[in-house]
This record gives sequence, C-alpha cells and structure tokens, in this order.
Amino acid sequence: MIALSAGIEIGYDDFGLGLPVVFLHGFPHNRSLWTPQVHGLVDRARCIAPDLRGFGETTVAGPYSMDQYADDVVSLLDVLRIDRAVIAGLSMGGYVAFSVWRRYRARVRALVLADTRAGADNDVARAKRDEMIAMANDRGSGAVADSMIAVMVGQGTRTRSPEIVDEVHRMFASAPVEGIVGALESLKSRIDSTPTLATIDVPSLIVVGEDDVLTPVAESRAMHAAIAGSLLEIIGGAGHVSNVERPAAFNHVLSEFLSTLTLE
Ligand code: MLT
Repeated sequence: MIALSAGIEIGYDDFGLGLPVVFLHGFPHNRSLWTPQVHGLVDRARCIAPDLRGFGETTVAGPYSMDQYADDVVSLLDVLRIDRAVIAGLSMGGYVAFSVWRRYRARVRALVLADTRAGADNDVARAKRDEMIAMANDRGSGAVADSMIAVMVGQGTRTRSPEIVDEVHRMFASAPVEGIVGALESLKSRIDSTPTLATIDVPSLIVVGEDDVLTPVAESRAMHAAIAGSLLEIIGGAGHVSNVERPAAFNHVLSEFLSTLTLE
C-alpha cells in the first residue's frame, strides 16, 4: 500500500487487527525484511511495516536523518489514525525507534529493540561509512550488498540456508543509491542514545542473534541493564538479521511479549 504523508509517498504493509505494531527495517533493507513477522503475527496484532524514506516504495528524497525517519513514521501513524503503537526496530530501525521515543513518547506503547545498539558511531565507524558512500556512488548498490552480506547473515545461516543469503542480498542490491547514501549520512551523524535508555519507561523487549557480529550480544546486554524492567532474548543460531534467519524463534519471543500488552 502507499500513503501520501507529509509530502512524500510511503510504501507500507498493514495486515491484521488489534494492537498496532510498527516494524522498522535496518540498513540497507526495505519493509520486506519483516515479511516473516507481518505474516506470522497477523493473527495476534495489526502489523504495519513501512519502507523508510529512500528505500522500497517510499519516495527517494531528502532530507535524511534518524529524526526525519522518525517524523515520517509518526506521520504515517497520523494518516492511519493510530494514537499509540508498539515500535519495533531492527538495527538502524532501532536507532529510528530511539528517535521516535525521544520525539513522540506519547505515541509509543512499547519498544522492541532488535539487533541494535544505543551508541553513536566512533571515528573509525564514520570513516567506514565514508568509504561505503564512495563505493555506492562509484559502483552501485550491488557492491554495497556484496560488501555487507557476510556480516549481516550469521555463519550458521550461511551454511544452513543459502537461500536466505540470496534473498537478503537481493533486498540490499535493490536499494536506490540515493537512499543508501542518505542512510549512511544519517547513521554517521546519529546521536548517542545511551542517555535515552534510562528515560524508557514502557515495556521493552531486546532481541539479538547470538552470532550477530554487527551489533553483538554485549550491546544488547548493556541496553538490557540500562532499561528498567526490559526483557532480553537471545536467538540461537542467528546473526544480525535474526528475524529472517530464525523467524519461528523470533516470532515466538515477540508473540509472548505482545501477549503481555493490553490494547489501549
Ligand atoms: C543495519 O543493519 O541497520 C546497520 O548495519 C546498522 C549500522 O551499520 O549501524
């Protein structure tokens, strides 16, 4: 589906009834990342998965920043007349979720922080973002997909399920170069969300693949320690895209978490 919202078109899926859950994809993904959850949880919740600006079917136009992505997400909630939703973000989607929390906390029923981290980029990470921007501009999205795929998908999944690797690679390679560059600039300049963690007072679930090398388990443990009352679930045999690599295990922990929340 496509919504006209705050001057841009937002591509999104919207399936199911009940508690609204907004699924935010990472970099350089699109909303199809969340297909196993949108389909798997449709009987439990209203599953909404937008493409972030510059990806999938959403308009490819700046400005790009975590706050802008957050504003776009909340403008979609406005269009859909949803007051409060569970905000579930994977990796960069988690960085956007922190921004939604800072800017619109009254709209957040609960948080799901999957394979993400609170900290900002350091100088080394920023320099790597610049290298990837040059790669995207010079050699296109396929080169970015090639360079990221091995760190995105866990070792076990690469051996066990090569079709998942192909699917994730196709998703990355289809991303527009402008969207990739806009996201990399946003990643580079994002603020440190560590001080935000102590302000989170809604139910929070932290999920991470045990073999995640991009946002390792230690990052999730640190968020778990800093967010009062949060739950931590580690998905065995999964890497950075744990929801795609181990959909049944991921859906199980998410479903259990959602069952603790009431619709209000
Ligand atoms: C993502 O999956 O969204 C990115 O790997 C996040 C990052 O590079 O910080």
